[in-house]
Parts: sequence; structure tokens; C-alpha cells
Amino acid sequence: MAASTLLPTVLTAVMRGQPRALRDPHYPACHLAPVTGLLNDPNGFIHHDGRYHLFYQWNPLGCQHQHKCWGHWSSADLLHWQHEPLALMPEESYDRSGCYSGSAVDNQGVLTLIYTGNVKFDDGTRTAWQCLAVQNSEGGFDKLGPVMALPEGYTGHVRDPKVWRHGERWYMVLGAQDLQRRGKVLLWQSDDLHHWQCRGEIAGSECGGLGEAGYMWECPDLFALDGTTFLICCPQGIAREPTRFRNAHSVGWLAGDLCYQTHRFTHGSLHELDAGFEFYAPQTTLTADGRRLLVGWMGVPDGEEMAQPTVAQGWIHQMTCLRELRAQDGRLYQQPIAELQTLRNDARQFQGRAENAPPMDAQQLEVMLEGAGGMALNFADTLLLTWEADGLQLARRSLLSGEWEYRTWQGAARHLQILCDRSSVEIFINHGEGVMSSRYFPRHPAQLTLSGDGEVAVRYWSLRSCMVE
Ligand code: FRU
Repeated sequence: MAASTLLPTVLTAVMRGQPRALRDPHYPACHLAPVTGLLNDPNGFIHHDGRYHLFYQWNPLGCQHQHKCWGHWSSADLLHWQHEPLALMPEESYDRSGCYSGSAVDNQGVLTLIYTGNVKFDDGTRTAWQCLAVQNSEGGFDKLGPVMALPEGYTGHVRDPKVWRHGERWYMVLGAQDLQRRGKVLLWQSDDLHHWQCRGEIAGSECGGLGEAGYMWECPDLFALDGTTFLICCPQGIAREPTRFRNAHSVGWLAGDLCYQTHRFTHGSLHELDAGFEFYAPQTTLTADGRRLLVGWMGVPDGEEMAQPTVAQGWIHQMTCLRELRAQDGRLYQQPIAELQTLRNDARQFQGRAENAPPMDAQQLEVMLEGAGGMALNFADTLLLTWEADGLQLARRSLLSGEWEYRTWQGAARHLQILCDRSSVEIFINHGEGVMSSRYFPRHPAQLTLSGDGEVAVRYWSLRSCMVE
């Protein structure tokens, strides 16, 4: 194998950049983040040979969307993670513009990555190859090269393979854009991971009962949960509505049934998976004990990301906490994994009118609130959550214009579970019926204060740090 030309540059960037990122008061204490540079999508999330592996889109060389490598962490317990050898670098002709997102499978004991080799041309066009890589004895990955070229009838925007095993075969969902510039999800089938047959479009814009729903669908993920098949997808270019799909790009889910004989996915309408300011490109996997977990990128492309203040410290973005999914009444619920409870220090509580609640140190905090509205939660004067009888509103100022911006969740909220970690807040509504994930950049030490005359029962814990070791 030829010596890597990128690796020495990456090493220097990490050695120089890591101390500065880890010193930043905005650097998370119990969420995964890049030690330098830019992190985006989670990739290759899998339990393999007794450990969990989580790969991630990573530009180690700066805070721009360039030089996409696959970083790699592993963990025995989903709490304590360790760095693993850099898995993929964009050094081949077929992945030279980036080793883009994908997934991992256990192929007869061999940890195998399926990712998109992205190739951009000088005239602004691009092509994409779906590629394989297998783990070697040093824990790194050997590339096997492309196994799929661009399918006919689609533009160069074909990417983000998510592969799973069903019966005796492998299946893949793949994000795509057709020649009419409509976002689609393609289903593929293979016996050996090397030879793939397209089984058609299973969802997308102007497909399966959906109307116009965007020009590109990225990062699809399909799985069965409690008898329902869910398809998670990231449709780009769907119309903003007054109370949903407000971000530059959103994440949606469809619930239905995939027939493995006809390769048809019948599904209902498109729902938003997270109503906060930052959430994108989530990926799921199964745990050793059969739970379906999800982790997302707590960022959004093409928005205000480059205005985030951590860029000045040489790093940008983080993952969400790990979440357990469940299906309830045909809907997808998300809650922080139970393992996170072991980070709690001693519980404290309060009951009464919200305005009489004690201020809480919000730097590393978990808080549970039971109530029916009539109050507001102020996160360090930087993020404001208004809780009314018929819904929630989250407000934050634009980092560019300074104007207030809002995200809403409609419904009767009775229970909130909130995780605050340095520069992120994740709000779980009614035990997972809704979620709002957002970054915020308060002055530290940050405090959470309550106001309003609504009655509330509060339990809260400071959280222990749980970093990559
Ligand atoms: C989603 C995405 C993917 C792509 C990757 C590149 O955020 O655009 O479609 O594979 O990021 O980093």
C-alpha cells in the first residue's frame, strides 16, 4: 500500500489543534466532538465483536466542509469512548473529493465499511462511487474500491449508503437526486456486498403519496421497530412551514411497511424528527441487547454554522447524545439512553411556582420538569424556552443578524427532560414524543433560571464529564 500523503498533515493538525479545542469552555463534557476541525455526520454506527463503533465525517484540517475523512471511536459501554485509527482518508481517484457518509456491517466477522467516494470536477459537476473497506489487523481499514457507479437516471448526487442484512441478503438504502432534480431513496440488494441490483425508488419527492418534497434526500436509514418499518431521511429543499421544517435542512421520518418480495415501501406522511435548531444526518444501530439507538449530528449544513464562535478555537460541531428509539401509536419516540443516568451526581428537587425555583448551574445539567405550562426557562440569557399549555417555543438570536429566531413544538407538554452540556441543550418532550436539539454559546458559567407562575415539579442533577479517553 502506498504511504499516505495526508496523514502527516492530519497528525500535525491534531497535535496543534487539540489542546486549544479541549480548553474551550464550549467544548462538550459528555458529548462526542472533534478534537480539532469539523465534525458532521455520524457514520458506521455498529456493535461488533463486543464493542460499539462510531465513525464520523471529519475534516481534521480545518472548520470548512473539505477533506472529509472517517474518524473512528469505539466503546464497550456507550459512555466511555476511545480514539481508534483514522479509518478513511480521501486519497484515491474514486474518493478524492471526500470519503462521504455510509455505514458498517459485520460480514462474517469482518467489520466492513460501505461509504460514498465523492468526486468533484472543475466544471462544478460531480460523480459518486459506493465503496467498500475492510478492517485490518491494526484496527485500520483497507479500501477495496468502488462496488457501484452512478445509477442511470440520477445526477451525481447519489450517496450515503446504509446497509443491513435481511434473511440471506444484504440491502441498502441510498440517497439520490433524479434527473428532474427530485430527492429519492433507492433500494438495492446484494448477495455479497460486491454486486448490487437496484430494486427501485422506495420513497422521495413526488413518490409514494408525497408531494413536492425536496431536491435531494441525504442519509437515509431504514429499520423495523416494534412491527413498523421506519425510514429516516434528510430531504433538502422541502418547503418551510410556519411551525416545522424551519432549518436550512430538516430530518424527517416515514412509518410504513417494506415488502421484501415486491420491494415496495408503503408509508404515511412525512414527520419532522427533531424540532430544534441543530439536528441532521442521524444514524441508527442495534445494541447487543436489541435496542434501536440513534445518534445525530448537532449541526445543519448551509445555515449559520460558520458563525459559531468555536471556529475561532479551531473546532466546530458535536454529536447529539445517544438516544433509544421506540414506536408508540405508529410514531417514533426518542429518549436519552439509560446508560447516561450513571453520569448523574446527587439529585436535587423543587416543587412550587416556577418563578420560585432556584437557579441551576447549566454547564453540565440534567433537569426533569413536570408541569402544564405557564412558565419560561432561560438558559443564560442566550436560549429561551417558553412553555405554554399548547406547546413550546424555543428562541435564540441569529449569530449573523442578531434577530430573534424561533422553533416550536405543538402539543400539550407535560414532562420535559433536558440535557445541557456546555454549548448544547436537548429537550425531550413527554418521554420522547418530541425533541428539540440546539447549540447555544452562553457566557460561562451558564445558569438556567425559571420564571412564570405555572406550577412545576423539578428534579435536577449535575452531570459528570464523560469524555473520549
Ligand atoms: C450530510 C452530508 C452527506 C454527505 C456528507 C459529506 O450532512 O452532506 O450527504 O455524505 O454530509 O460530509
